[in-house]
Amino acid sequence: MSVTQIPLPFLYTVNHLGPDHRRRALAEDVRTGLTSTPKWLPPKWFYDATGSELFSRITTLPEYYPTRRELAILRENAAEIAALSGADTLVELGSGTSDKTVLLLDALAGAGTLKTYSPVDVDAATLEAAARRVAAAHPGLAVWAVCADFERHLSRLPRTGRRLVAFLGGTIGNLDDEARASFLSELHDTLSPGDGLLLGADLVKDTGRLVAAYDDNAGVTAAFNRNVLTVMNRELGADFTPQAFEHVALYDARRHRIEMRLRATRPMRVNFRELGLTVAFRAGEEMRTEISVKFYRYRLERELLRCGFAVSRWYTDPAQDFAVVLAFVPEGRHAEEVQAPRGHRRNGRS
Ligand code: SAH
Ligand code: AVI
Repeated sequence: MSVTQIPLPFLYTVNHLGPDHRRRALAEDVRTGLTSTPKWLPPKWFYDATGSELFSRITTLPEYYPTRRELAILRENAAEIAALSGADTLVELGSGTSDKTVLLLDALAGAGTLKTYSPVDVDAATLEAAARRVAAAHPGLAVWAVCADFERHLSRLPRTGRRLVAFLGGTIGNLDDEARASFLSELHDTLSPGDGLLLGADLVKDTGRLVAAYDDNAGVTAAFNRNVLTVMNRELGADFTPQAFEHVALYDARRHRIEMRLRATRPMRVNFRELGLTVAFRAGEEMRTEISVKFYRYRLERELLRCGFAVSRWYTDPAQDFAVVLAFVPEGRHAEEVQAPRGHRRNGRS
């Protein structure tokens, strides 16, 4: 781990993912995922500087509604969220460019409680640029940027103060059911009574709109998907030909999740120089690169409850496309209610 003070008075970066750690973790995931049937990779490897830039472009596409919807929800409700949380420390997981966070920072500053912002992301370059922007725009705010994997390093996040952990954008949906349960339980265990979680989640809706959001006309999502091949070429000496793979986005209605895949257009043998590994693809063979789970209100609230959180507010947009949930680690008397849920509430569409 390295800690660096960047020459802005209140900006620090902590890196738990040095180049060696990154390469080792990617190598481990490649050995596991690309030797499985069917082949798969975790989505965190999309996000090098190019991947993060492509994601930013995705958020502006007409087909990709989640960012716009979440932004509208936050605009409408940031002041109430700040008042209810009373947080002095905003921790943001998968913070990316921290664009939407400004609304929360301004609301917490307006409520008079804000002292520290701690963005957490695997992409060091995007993280540092965002942290620098936030620190420059908020004089006096302590910014602790943490380059880390939120599936591995939750215990290393700031442990002091009244915390609000924001996990926005629907990134929770990029974890499968098991990974989500582990993540939420572990997060709960690192927090203290009274600390909050602000969770952005995409909701189940018309299949055509869901698929279009992951298969846009301009081909930006296809480029984002293929970028993971470029990452493996660079970091593990692999020899993928990205253009020999087709972008696939489909909706699995049974598991209510989008799956992004890359389909080999011809038989291929891909060598990973750094791993001494060769992986064969059949023509038409697909490798899963991302899942993006879509939620019903009652299911998400039940998951939060099972992991020890008490749901305080469910905010949504008029079309009920996206939700932002505010939940807390219960204090005292409240804690007993979480142990004994009163049954599940369903939203209108479930
Ligand atoms: N929160 C932003 C960005 C979402 S994109 C928004 O709502 O627009 C997802 C972000 O999570 C990327 O910046 C990516 O680098 C980061 N990310 C993905 N997997 C991660 C992991 N396992 N640990 C930490 N960051 C991760
Ligand atoms: C970051 N995450 C919530 C995005 C999503 O919608 O699942 C990533 C993404 N993949 C394709 N488009 C956007």
